Amino acid sequence: MIGPMNELRRHGLLAPSILAADFTRLGEEIALVEAGGADWIHVDIMDGHFVPNLTMGPFIVEACSRATNLPLDVHLMMENPENYLKKFADAGAAGLSVHVETCPHLHQTIQSIKGLGLRAGVVLNPSTPVGLLSEIVKDVDLILLMTVNPGFGGQTFIESSISKILAVRKLRQLQSNSHAYIEVDGGINSSTILRAYEAGADVFVAGESVFGHTEGAKAGVEKLRRSISESEK
Ligand code: DX5
Ligand code: ZN
Repeated sequence: MIGPMNELRRHGLLAPSILAADFTRLGEEIALVEAGGADWIHVDIMDGHFVPNLTMGPFIVEACSRATNLPLDVHLMMENPENYLKKFADAGAAGLSVHVETCPHLHQTIQSIKGLGLRAGVVLNPSTPVGLLSEIVKDVDLILLMTVNPGFGGQTFIESSISKILAVRKLRQLQSNSHAYIEVDGGINSSTILRAYEAGADVFVAGESVFGHTEGAKAGVEKLRRSISESEK
């Protein structure tokens, strides 16, 4: 593969999920993960319909954008996400990812995200087959595989996700002009990150293992980074 992708494969990108942060100190938590070497900040939007939990909206994305210059990777776990794309763009999102399961007009939704100048991502739930991506893979910048059922942090990584990562890699290879990132989300810790990395994932979302680290979020990010680096020795 060509240069930038090689660079990416060597390091992996870490995207701490603020869902697990202490919201009374959100700016400080973001500064800690930034100091630890985080690449993106992952923001989980949940609507209480598509997933059984309610979290945040554009208001928090806007607060994050004032706290950091890191790209804000916004994961829309919501019905009718197309009605909110501009609001999240205006709030400072760098990328928006929508679920296949909530988008009957996926091609159009992806084009709308790109039209706003943002990185366009598509997300699959654990039980959603990779084959559903075949017509859209050439249009997206990122493929996010849920490695838990979406809705809550702190769940256990679903092992069958490893073969899904391999299948998405194959699909990406078939589309020779696709450089879409493969991102994984849910149950990522210092052991699961290794398996996902070796299978070919490029971007790693992590909530509990970062913000729940006993020595703080900076140490949490550093521990994940070490896992990847050690696998390269
Ligand atoms: C789950 C969210 C995840 C979550 C990951 O629905 O999409 O981003 O925050 O949390 P951990 O890393 O704790 O599994
Ligand atoms: Zn997420």
